[in-house]
Order: sequence, then C-alpha cells, then structure tokens
Amino acid sequence: MSSVKVTDLTKDYLIRDGLRRRRMRAVNKVSFELTPGRTVALVGESGSGKSTIAKLLTRLERPTSGTIDVLTDDGARVAGSAYRREVQMVFQDPFASLNPFHSVAHHIARPLRLHKRTQDAASTRSEVLAMLERVNLTPAEEMAERRPHELSGGQRQRVAIARALAPGAQVLIADEPVSMLDVSIRLGVLNLLGRLQRESRLAVLYITHDLATARHFSDDILVLHHGRVVERGPADAVILDPHHDYTKLLALSAPDPNRLGGVVRSTAPDRDAIDDSVCYDHHLGDWVPSGTQEVAA
Ligand SMILES: Nc1ncnc2c1ncn2[C@@H]1O[C@H](COP(=O)(O)OP(=O)(O)OP(=O)(O)O)[C@@H](O)[C@H]1O
Ligand SMILES: [Mg+2]
Repeated sequence: MSSVKVTDLTKDYLIRDGLRRRRMRAVNKVSFELTPGRTVALVGESGSGKSTIAKLLTRLERPTSGTIDVLTDDGARVAGSAYRREVQMVFQDPFASLNPFHSVAHHIARPLRLHKRTQDAASTRSEVLAMLERVNLTPAEEMAERRPHELSGGQRQRVAIARALAPGAQVLIADEPVSMLDVSIRLGVLNLLGRLQRESRLAVLYITHDLATARHFSDDILVLHHGRVVERGPADAVILDPHHDYTKLLALSAPDPNRLGGVVRSTAPDRDAIDDSVCYDHHLGDWVPSGTQEVAA
C-alpha cells in the first residue's frame, strides 16, 4: 500500500493585473498525510485552494515549493509511471470528464491497457466487466456498450470512479465528486466510494464544501482558508467543536447549523477579522502558527 506525505506545499500563480503581473499564493505551506484506509477531507470556500492541491497531487501542476512524496510501506519513493498509476483523480463534472464518442468499456479498458494491467483482449474485457460490477453498474454487459449520453449523472460518476480505480489506484483524490449530482443520488455515490475505499484500503482525499458529508465520510478534516490550513483534526472534533473563527463561519453557512455543533447565529464571527496566520490543531489541543508541519496523531 502507498501513503502520501505532503510537506510545506506552496503554489503561486502569476496573474495579470492590468499591464502588470503579480503573484497570487493559492496554496500556502500546507502539510498533511494520506494513509491507506483513511479519508482526509479538505474543506473551504470557493477559491480557498482545494482544487489547486488536487492538481498538485495529481501532477497537473507543479509546486512552487514544498514536496509531495508517495511512499510504499517500506518507505521507498514511488515515481514516474508508478506515481501516475497509483494516484488517481475523480473530477467534479462527470459530464465533462468522459469522452462522448467512446463507450463505457473503452473508458475503463484504456487505463487497464495503458498501465499493462491486462495482457490481451479477453482479460481486458473480463476486467472491465468486473470493474463495472464493483461500482454497481449492472448488467455490466449492457452498461459496457453504452455511451456517456446514455447514462445518468450518477452512473457517469460511477464510470469515472471505475476508470480511476482500473490502473490499480492506491490514492484517490476526489474533488467535489458529488456536487454536480442531484441531491437524491449523492449519498449513493459517496457510500460507493466508502465501500471501495474499505475493500481496497485506498488513501482518499475528499474535497468538499459540505461539512456534513465531510464529517460522515472522513477520519480527519483540514479546513483551508486563502490557501492556509486554519484548523485540523479528527472529523467530529473539527465539526462539533470548531475553534477557528473561519470554521465557525463555515458551520454557520451550512444548511443545518444545529446539526453542526453548538455555534449559534448570534455569535457569528466577523469575517474581516479572520486571522489565518494561526491554526487550531485538535491533535495537539492547541493553536500553532499555520504552515507548521503536522504532528503525528
Ligand atoms: N491556473 C491558474 N492561474 C491563475 N490562478 C489560478 C489558477 N488556478 C487557480 N487559480 C486561483 O487560485 C485560487 C484557488 O483556486 P482553486 O481552484 O484551488 O479553489 P477551490 O478551493 O478549488 O475553489 P472551488 O470551491 O470554487 O472549486 C483562486 O483564487 C483561483 O482563482
Ligand atoms: Mg475547486
């Protein structure tokens, strides 16, 4: 199994500001670990840097500084094509992430062959069908021949999940995997992700705006504000006993604040006074300067 160790991850973007260009720090000294069989949720508002972290982990972007190491059980570093095989992503938009011209079978067969998981057409076919069964797309024979437009949003996202797992993923980055799906089917897809994670002992980073599912589906939560981690700890502790004003604000803007701990509306923190130079670490039970490396729980 593989783990991911992220240390002081920082990403600057150059953005045009009139005729000048300036640097914008999208991710600022973020450190965390993903370990087999555990889910870490990354929560924060739009623009807080969540997807940038996902892109850095999947090597769609390069860090400005800091490191991302994927390590095997015995501490060896996973690199090159093994990294691309082991670290897989499920994107937010199941409509844009599948190719309308190709069948479901093609989407899953391609990574199998690319990463040499199967040797011939027959074994590829049977593995494709097995993957479809695993993500509950049945009857698999029939689903395999469909094209993306012949599937519902939830079914498309199941194809995307099967495609991510096909190469033998050990680390799954799920960037708001259900936010574009109808509310009624979100839980089904999240439960599927949870089951696959347990079966394959995946290390999962679950990116979401939604504190309720972050609490339900993850072990640890990182709260991100302007690219900095401002609160971290076990999911229940962060949601039920938020310490940082920003986490309290997030809890207040959630649909059912009563469910999310004892934050009352009348004590809403002042957004302009949010101090993201400090981070509350529930594992330590103390405040630390944000950007300080994670201390093992
Ligand atoms: N390629 C890019 N070039 C310049 N700026 C970028 C680029 N990608 C992201 N940004 C900026 O970096 C910041 C973080 O963006 P990011 O997409 O990581 O946010 P997010 O937390 O995923 O938001 P959302 O919840 O809306 O998906 C934003 O201010 C965004 O405008
Ligand atoms: Mg995003």
